[in-house]
Amino acid sequence: MGQAASIDWELLRAKAIEAMHQAYAPYSTFPVGVAGLVDDGRLVSGCNVENASYGVALCAECGMISQLRLTGGGRLVAVACVNGNGDPLMPCGRCRQLLWEHGGARCQVMTAAGVRTMAEVLPDAFGGDDLDHFDASRG
Ligand code: THU
Repeated sequence: MGQAASIDWELLRAKAIEAMHQAYAPYSTFPVGVAGLVDDGRLVSGCNVENASYGVALCAECGMISQLRLTGGGRLVAVACVNGNGDPLMPCGRCRQLLWEHGGARCQVMTAAGVRTMAEVLPDAFGGDDLDHFDASRG
């Protein structure tokens, strides 16, 4: 059985909704929750945390990635992000980059249109490999 078949999307969504209820979003009034399944079976989650200095707001995915690292690292294999209604929410552009870093092309994402891979959600992504291809000696 492949990893895809073993992903409990309803559980992930429930964890994302649980996180969404902890959001601090008094400025946008747009709470967000996200949950991720790690390759060792752990679940991590996060909620958005806004600030009176609007631009400083932390997306839910930032909190989730922090929890990923704090609780042992690993790779994200599946992610579900929800809005205040508990419906699937597409991660913003910046957060797609975060998910790319910690999940890569094959990480699966719940979307309103069904499950998509990160390769579909962030095509032609910039990643760590691009840094390796720079040759400083070429001037
Ligand atoms: N938000 C997230 O938490 N994640 C996303 O991927 C999209 C946007 C938050 C940021 C802000 O607190 C609120 O949603 C409205 O943009």
